[in-house]
Amino acid sequence: MTKITYIAHDGSKFEVEAENGSTVMENAIRNAVPGIEAECGGACACATCHVYVDEAWSAAVGEPEAMEEDMLDFAYDVRPTSRLSCQIRVSDELDGLVVQVPERQA
Ligand code: FES
Repeated sequence: MTKITYIAHDGSKFEVEAENGSTVMENAIRNAVPGIEAECGGACACATCHVYVDEAWSAAVGEPEAMEEDMLDFAYDVRPTSRLSCQIRVSDELDGLVVQVPERQA
């Protein structure tokens, strides 16, 4: 199991144990993290699972693929650390990952 901390827009923290192979979005939904909508269910087609990856984790998480990059154009308040959480796959390397939820989606 891999620990992920979600920080909601109001500063409240949600620490969850995530299964490797699942996505950061799926774990947010399962644990009712506020602010993650994930309307398309993880198909990289809605941009409502937008998160900011904590800078300390940028390298471990990596860069978005081209399709995700295009979809991020539709997200609200995109920053260099923006990712679509349905495209981040949980693995041992991400144990301790911290992501922030934006003020709102799209
Ligand atoms: Fe739709 Fe991530 S859930 S793009």
